[in-house]
Amino acid sequence: MAKIKTSFVCQSCGAKRAKWEGRCSDCGEWNTYVEEKTGPERTAWVKRGESSARPLGNMDVFNLIDTPSLDSGQRLSSGIGEVDRVLGGGLVKGSYILLGGDPGIGKSTLIMQVAGAVARRGGSVLYISAEESVQQTALRARRLGLKNERVDLASESSLDAILDTALDRNPEILIVDSIQTVFTSEVESAPGSVSQVRECAARLMTLAKTKNITVILIGHVTKDGNLAGPRVLEHMVDTVLAFEGDQHQQFRLLRALKNRFGATNELGVFQMSGDGLNEVTNPSEFFLEERRENRYGSSVFAAMEGSRPVLCEIQALTTASPLPSPRRNSLGIDVNRVHMLAAVLEKHMSLSFSNRDIYANVVGGLRLSEPAVDLALVAALLSSERQIPLPASSCFFGEVGLTGEVRGASLAIERVKEAIKLGFKHIYLPLSNEKYAKSEFRDAGVEFHFVREVSDLENRLGGEPRMKKATVKRDNGSELDF
Ligand code: TYD
Ligand code: MG
Repeated sequence: MAKIKTSFVCQSCGAKRAKWEGRCSDCGEWNTYVEEKTGPERTAWVKRGESSARPLGNMDVFNLIDTPSLDSGQRLSSGIGEVDRVLGGGLVKGSYILLGGDPGIGKSTLIMQVAGAVARRGGSVLYISAEESVQQTALRARRLGLKNERVDLASESSLDAILDTALDRNPEILIVDSIQTVFTSEVESAPGSVSQVRECAARLMTLAKTKNITVILIGHVTKDGNLAGPRVLEHMVDTVLAFEGDQHQQFRLLRALKNRFGATNELGVFQMSGDGLNEVTNPSEFFLEERRENRYGSSVFAAMEGSRPVLCEIQALTTASPLPSPRRNSLGIDVNRVHMLAAVLEKHMSLSFSNRDIYANVVGGLRLSEPAVDLALVAALLSSERQIPLPASSCFFGEVGLTGEVRGASLAIERVKEAIKLGFKHIYLPLSNEKYAKSEFRDAGVEFHFVREVSDLENRLGGEPRMKKATVKRDNGSELDF
């Protein structure tokens, strides 16, 4: 009989100690150690001469040329375009996927819709709910419009039963909702503890890899926003998807935080409705829906989310501050960028923010990490501070450097195309993007405003002679308009 030991396990990073620690010396988190009963160390199993040791044998060794590539039929469409986009083209067979998000955000709803769509195309899906009864799950599925799809449902939280059922039915996709409520009797600690989650996840990984079953785990995020608590889980899986959004609003965003089979910067946009999640295939229109024109402090930024351009509204508000050190608050943009741009504007324009509060916001809950947002934020700040409405149907992108220079943005053509598609007529972009933009969009009917320095923007938006054209006479007598 194996000896059961107790040890203290950090619920944040999974570190194991013989004694309790107030602060984890590995991850630095406070009060995360919980006493857990742990079985014998795994390393003991492979000691030579022990009966439970796996026999050493020959492995299957493949040749790179002979192994099939991923794209040759190894991907299975999830049936939902936005999900496929985020996954990098569909579910890879035998891959191990973790979907995390706040409680109530719609994880079970999304995965049930995926299950339905896969089943509709003839795929076999086993959906195990460890949180809800079969009736509850079925009721939800009906509400989502699933009627004739063959999705096998079960309500079970014992890992051994789940593994047995999966081996018995051999589905293409196994869904476990959620990993925190599944437990195995081999580990003595409570369901949801690090040891349990790690053990259950490791055994499900073996199932995915050996039986070529795509396993999708649903995981809750902890109160500090970490996905599924223990980081161990994130290392184990192939793909980590995060489902985010404001519970009080209808939109939901799906992103890949890690993806072994595709890019991580793609964004899927959904809208929660009475009959489930609907795909938003034109997110720009969606994010600009409630925008009002001719407002102070509002600009439109042509962002790139992965390979897709998304237009969104950037708002800035500057007000007199009663505080000795004025406030800088920001939602959706790193507040350090706001600090930096305020400093650049003070230095290179005749503006002073020393006794002004600054608030910045990206409408629609998007989080932007691209530096190309700078020019749009500068325009919004300038518009709020100077009380000048920005020209109607204008759109901005470009990075601003510390010396006030405006630097070129990547994928300028895609951004401009999207702006034109949505009817924007004035596009403010870095001067270094000129050669692409001019040749590509000669007859598009838009006016390009190439900006070299932030101070140029001030002249164009705030100065009197707006959009003044200059004419230069060439040596041969012809005239050239700027
Ligand atoms: P759910 O998928 O249960 O969230 P999670 O699994 O992430 O905890 O979704 C819960 C919320 O979604 C709930 O508050 C109600 C809402 N909802 C709808 O608005 N429409 C629907 O069709 C469904 C199924 C849920
Ligand atoms: Mg759920």
